[in-house]
Amino acid sequence: MSFYERHVFTCVNERDGSDARGCCMERGGAEVAAWFKAEVKARGWTGRIRANRAGCLDVCEFGPAVVVYPEQVWYSPTTQEDVKAICDRHLAKGEIVTELLIPGLN
Ligand code: FES
Repeated sequence: MSFYERHVFTCVNERDGSDARGCCMERGGAEVAAWFKAEVKARGWTGRIRANRAGCLDVCEFGPAVVVYPEQVWYSPTTQEDVKAICDRHLAKGEIVTELLIPGLN
């Protein structure tokens, strides 16, 4: 049994531009991580659902990269509305938000 019902990791890795894959920080990873954290707090999920910033998750070209455990579902949300959709549907109900999935990883 997991300590948290669901655990969200958002990549905030930053590179200097020398890697052709780029990085999640340049694609809004820090904002996405902050939006998840704020949603968890606002919805009263603290202690049940956890949102953490992460280092490189090795899917850089699809960033900003997000993975939700325990289902191990990979997303690439780019807007605050995307983050709310993942919260409303996946984190709250366990429904996979198919339109935000990273292709080929799920
Ligand atoms: S830089 Fe985000 S997954 Fe690699």
